[in-house]
Amino acid sequence: MQFRRNAAISRLVSIGDGIIGASHANGKYAGHIFPDSHDKIILKTSMPDLPSMDPYARHVLLCTGAYCSPDRRGRELYAQLPALLEREGLLFGPRRVKRGETSCLGVCTAGPIVVVYPEGVWYANVDLPLLERIVREHLKEGRVVEEAVFHRL
Ligand code: FES
Repeated sequence: MQFRRNAAISRLVSIGDGIIGASHANGKYAGHIFPDSHDKIILKTSMPDLPSMDPYARHVLLCTGAYCSPDRRGRELYAQLPALLEREGLLFGPRRVKRGETSCLGVCTAGPIVVVYPEGVWYANVDLPLLERIVREHLKEGRVVEEAVFHRL
């Protein structure tokens, strides 16, 4: 039998009658594999290839837009974020924090605005000392910096 392995497929499971199920690394269904009349195996997929991604613990978004912080402090803070995450050991491994900048989070005042998921905690008036606390206390230790929170999911 021949099998053209799809790079996005990570797991094959026999589900009986010669039919094999295939799943992506994230466990999502990728399709079924059927032997054809020439003793080859055909992967019939119902979904396009999906990327796989290493696990992470939290996602932090920082607004770098000009409305919530007209002096564009958000950009300066975002430039500091990788070093702060590295200092706290949050760039790699299962506790890693993914980061992203956005041009607007729909608040547009009292910025820079920072939001942390999965908790859905929103921080306002973030400056460098507060960002350091958010990284250390919230992202690393899991303790929300309550006095700077203005909204929750
Ligand atoms: S510009 Fe920052 S929230 Fe809109």
